[in-house]
Amino acid sequence: MASIWSETVSLPRFAALDRDLKTDVLIIGGGIAGLLCAHALREAGADYALVEADRICGGVTKNTTAKITSQHGAIFHRMLRRYGADLTGRYLGANEVALRKYRDLCGSVDCDFEERDAYVYSRTDRDLLAREYEALKKVGYPAEWAETTSLPFSVVGAIRFPRQAQFHPLKFLGAIAKDLRVFEETKVRELRGMTAVTERFEIRAKKIIVATHFPFLNKHGLYFLKMHQHRSYVIALENADPVDGMYIDAAQNGLSFRTAGDLLLLGGGGHRTGKTGGGWRELEAFAKRKYPNAAISYRWATQDCVTLDDIPYIGRYSPTTPDLLVATGFGKWGMTTAMVAADVLADLVAGRENPYTKLFLPSRSVLHPQLAINAGEATVDLLRPTAPRCPHLGCALRWNADERSWDCPCHGSRFSEDGNLIDNPATADLDLHSPR
Ligand code: FES
Repeated sequence: MASIWSETVSLPRFAALDRDLKTDVLIIGGGIAGLLCAHALREAGADYALVEADRICGGVTKNTTAKITSQHGAIFHRMLRRYGADLTGRYLGANEVALRKYRDLCGSVDCDFEERDAYVYSRTDRDLLAREYEALKKVGYPAEWAETTSLPFSVVGAIRFPRQAQFHPLKFLGAIAKDLRVFEETKVRELRGMTAVTERFEIRAKKIIVATHFPFLNKHGLYFLKMHQHRSYVIALENADPVDGMYIDAAQNGLSFRTAGDLLLLGGGGHRTGKTGGGWRELEAFAKRKYPNAAISYRWATQDCVTLDDIPYIGRYSPTTPDLLVATGFGKWGMTTAMVAADVLADLVAGRENPYTKLFLPSRSVLHPQLAINAGEATVDLLRPTAPRCPHLGCALRWNADERSWDCPCHGSRFSEDGNLIDNPATADLDLHSPR
């Protein structure tokens, strides 16, 4: 169940930390966000080090669908209503800047970068798309309306973002990473002030960036209340009709499409982690109906951190921790928003103004209906008496028969059948033998 990306590239290796270290900036986490932060700091001439508990790109980064786009689903009419035209325009602007940075960087890296239009479509809700289109016009984004698409079903409309892109994320990150100061197999156990404690050594830093997908410190920032995780599935089909762009359904658990060489990547089957959803079976059934001659070459699943308001948390980890920074909550759009995070955090480290700091502020208001949903889910699963308990905050785990894992519905930690940690925010393995 490995992704097309991890099966088709070998990433560079890095030695583990073998001594105590002092650095100006420590980055914890070697996924796309951490690596792009390290790259931005290196370009700025900063003193930095990145530590990764396992191998770089070994977590959710290897499981993306790798769409580089400011088209993030039908979110902009909601964002406009909540935050107004200025901040909505800035969100789009920040992601367009990220797209341009990829275009520049990918020019010198062999990473299958291809320009493609990105579409959000609907099969049933033309009114929703019309509201979204109006919102985009209001903030001045050059989106275009499309009546038809190359999808294998009819739609009631689609909105096109011209000249976006897709690529092979691990070819790109492998090339970027090889010149960076990285220590693999170096797990940070805890932070004591501005000292990171690993199994054998300590790292003292003036600034620390937490880029661990879901932030692992519970003491600050309340991320366990203001984020949840969402799981979705991908199959790569051989011998299926290609599509002429990158597509996502405006409905939350609809299908997504893009090509990768001769393969068609079909995504969907999503659900909140720890709950049930269509999974690969939904995708296989669709493929059987629409592409009867196709064969599945790869299948994988991914996990996304979802914020209360569709906007990532990038900046100070909490108002009381000025030197502890964070990048998380990218939803399904980790390619561009990781690049945005690198830009914002590199400026924050250097004390430079950045036009997007306010927009992504992690301590912005949490007054949002999703907060009550997250709290309600956590309460129910904290009180549920059966099943092994999650070592993060003690919720009852659910058995995921498709992926043979123990999944936590509260904040999305996952464990293998034997209890080994797969996805955070838990930081320890599951003890399946302790009394429950
Ligand atoms: Fe928080 Fe399980 S992930 S309690």
